[in-house]
Amino acid sequence: MQKLMVKGGYPLTGRVHISGAKNSAVALIPAAIMADSAVSIDNLPQISDVETLASLLEDIGAKVSHDGTSMTVHPQHVIPMPLPNGRVKKLRASYYMMGAMLGKFKRAAIGLPGGCNLGPRPIDQHIKGFEALGAKVTNEHGAIYLRADRLRGARIYLDVVSVGATINIMLAAVKAEGRTIIENAAKEPEIIDVATLLSSMGANIKGAGTNVIRIEGVDKLHGCAHSIIPDRIEAGTYMIAAAAMGQEVLINNVIPDHLESITAKLREMGVEIETGDDQLRIRTSPVLNSVDIKTLVHPGFATDLQQPITVLLTSAQGTSIVTDTIYNARFKHVDELRRMGADIKVEGRSALINGKTRLQGAKVKASDLRAGAALVIAGLMAEGITEITGLEHIDRGYEHLEEKLIALGANVWRETLTPEETAQVKSG
Ligand code: EPU
Repeated sequence: MQKLMVKGGYPLTGRVHISGAKNSAVALIPAAIMADSAVSIDNLPQISDVETLASLLEDIGAKVSHDGTSMTVHPQHVIPMPLPNGRVKKLRASYYMMGAMLGKFKRAAIGLPGGCNLGPRPIDQHIKGFEALGAKVTNEHGAIYLRADRLRGARIYLDVVSVGATINIMLAAVKAEGRTIIENAAKEPEIIDVATLLSSMGANIKGAGTNVIRIEGVDKLHGCAHSIIPDRIEAGTYMIAAAAMGQEVLINNVIPDHLESITAKLREMGVEIETGDDQLRIRTSPVLNSVDIKTLVHPGFATDLQQPITVLLTSAQGTSIVTDTIYNARFKHVDELRRMGADIKVEGRSALINGKTRLQGAKVKASDLRAGAALVIAGLMAEGITEITGLEHIDRGYEHLEEKLIALGANVWRETLTPEETAQVKSG
């Protein structure tokens, strides 16, 4: 086991290249099995979630050639093998195997997914969609079994706007007979990315990126090549780090439109942001203003950036209120930030951050992916050394984090935990 050491106080300057979007990649890889021939995916982030999914595909008979940021999936020999346990438990996105296998084979058995613990994360809307398409769904010993004689297009209204349910229903519906209409669909850019891949495979999908998606079922899907969109959450994380510690940071390979809500909030705080076609230039301000933030579905402020921006707000003058309307328990980073000297109170779904405080280095633990990113930013801002454990969460979603930060001038490195430290981390 390792820990990340961050010596705070070093200004960030220079440029950082943003990788492909994790939350696209984890849906595109399962989607690839639906084709009859090879699917090549480019601009993949080099993160452990991608490795896990590639292995999962191999478990069911796919041949996967994976080299850095490119992957080719040969799905010709994929079989509808039940996956009740094992790797599926490692990441939440393994639920996309349900839609992909149901769509391809009309049956699937997938263990209930793992992933970040952000409070209850039901998948009732996914199941509602699968049932509407004609699948019989049962929960047997912690695994979801889906069986259908035929899949038929249906009109499905999502009671909760859900990224996962929207994508999963698209996957199950592209080969169903007739027309499927998903109403109150989520509009995240990753949904458009998945629809783009499926369309290149021969699917007929209209309206991805709006709240009504129309799908006409097709009989066959063929191989294709696809390049993943840039990761807007990784970009937002570096924007926040630059706002915290940056003199002048250039963030390359972004789609500025995907970053409008974080750009607007940082500007409100006093950060200077210039936007180009596919890059952003960030210059921070010596005095940052407090702001209130409410996370919302896209194009509102992304819940995935709530934890990182909470850290930045500790250095703003005055009180900020951050409310997470998507997840009610995404505040596990707050206890760790308090240990570093932050003045934050959590009341229900809101965090009240009183600034300005100067954070102090401490030993902290990442409880989930974005909490990890938040603690890294806290470490960059803090006086002294911050030691962060729980790196397996960070490695699920941030490609080459240390290398990218070091290139910007940060002082970060990994160390192996002593046996005593390992025992301490494991005991919580
Ligand atoms: N929800 C339901 N029922 C459902 C599905 C969702 O009640 O059937 C609720 C959830 O409990 C939550 C809300 O709806 O309160 C949103 O959940 P959603 O389904 O949109 O989330 P998700 O698809 O499971 C994806 C990202 C998350 C990101 C959310 C919201 C992936 C693999 N994960 O999760 O990303 O926070 O959308 O934007 O795409 C992350 O990257 O750190 C991460 C957690």
